[in-house]
Amino acid sequence: MSHRPTRRTCLLATAGLVLAATGWRAGVEAQGADASLASVATAAGRYYGTAVRIDRIAVDDQYRQAILRECTHLTPEFEMKWDAIERIRGKPSLAPMDDLVSFARANGMRMRGHTLLWYRSVPDWAAGVLLEHKDWSPIRNYFSTLISRYGDAIEQWDVVNEPIDTGHRTDGLRENIFLRAFGPDYIRRALDDARMLAPRASLMINEYGLDYDIPVERDRRYLFLKLLEGLKSAGAPFDAVGIQGHLDLSKGPFSPKVFGDFLQEIANLGLQIVITELDVKEYDYLAPAEERDRRVADAVRRYLDVAFAQPAVKGLTSWGLSDRYSWLEVTPEDYARYPGAWKAGDGPGVNRGLPLDSSMRRKPMYQAIAAAFKRQPLG
Ligand code: XIL
Repeated sequence: MSHRPTRRTCLLATAGLVLAATGWRAGVEAQGADASLASVATAAGRYYGTAVRIDRIAVDDQYRQAILRECTHLTPEFEMKWDAIERIRGKPSLAPMDDLVSFARANGMRMRGHTLLWYRSVPDWAAGVLLEHKDWSPIRNYFSTLISRYGDAIEQWDVVNEPIDTGHRTDGLRENIFLRAFGPDYIRRALDDARMLAPRASLMINEYGLDYDIPVERDRRYLFLKLLEGLKSAGAPFDAVGIQGHLDLSKGPFSPKVFGDFLQEIANLGLQIVITELDVKEYDYLAPAEERDRRVADAVRRYLDVAFAQPAVKGLTSWGLSDRYSWLEVTPEDYARYPGAWKAGDGPGVNRGLPLDSSMRRKPMYQAIAAAFKRQPLG
């Protein structure tokens, strides 16, 4: 990877080196009650990590130290997405991703590459080029820019993100810009390019909405399995599947047997599995925090007890570590459900769906994750 470290990178790396020198890093801590998720997961033969943003790591010491304590793996929340990298065609802005990779390297942390192709992160200029000219070269150039620069730091690539959609095509493929420009074969082309550019990395297809025993997610699981089976039988080069794991307390029921059988069908294809984006969207924001946290922890326990019963599941990444920084907002629909409840401007205001609260304190969800790792270590 050839890039000139920025002043901020040096500061971050120095902070990381100091912390590393003091044995702050995961894996060197005691396995006692205060053991980190990093050490508990490692002891269980798996790993734990989180999605992060380098701009927050750079300014929030408490958040940075929590990440260093709790995680061995990092996923860029947005720095690596195509519309964040190449707003202007041919002029990639790589400084944020450079800083994040430098921070990870300085602290001995491992990285996931998220994500190469996602229909929601296509630069505006690329839409026209792909659709009008059916020109694959911007995709190949973007892959090559990222993988040549970061390939030696990235162990897993989410090559295709969220390819499934129900209610449209019989093959269940999302009618995204890639499919409209290149047909269903875009997935195979992306995997082939990624394998050629990153021959030693684990190539993954990452998907959401596969968790609950409800009709739409039953359909999504079926269609996703058909996609995986088709790609595997055609010899497509990929190694693993990312199950995002965005849990939602307004959904249900969750069937351990249904979800467990689904994971087994993926494993039967010879694929590894990573839970890549675990978090929990709440529904009732007016219950006392203790009750809200119990509900969240209970959902996570049920989910991970099934996930970790499957040997093909190798790791877990939550989509954020602390409620201080979660993409799960309390939405206008949530506010509308409680007219007047928050008129005074006070009230919950944040979704409590990540392991640490807004003050970086460990919540019942944190304990549920730790207990799930300990309960079912990889043999
Ligand atoms: C989300 C980020 O968290 C947001 O900050 C951004 O505005 C949109 O993307 N599934 C994914 C992630 O694979 O890339 C998405 O991340 C969340 C849903």
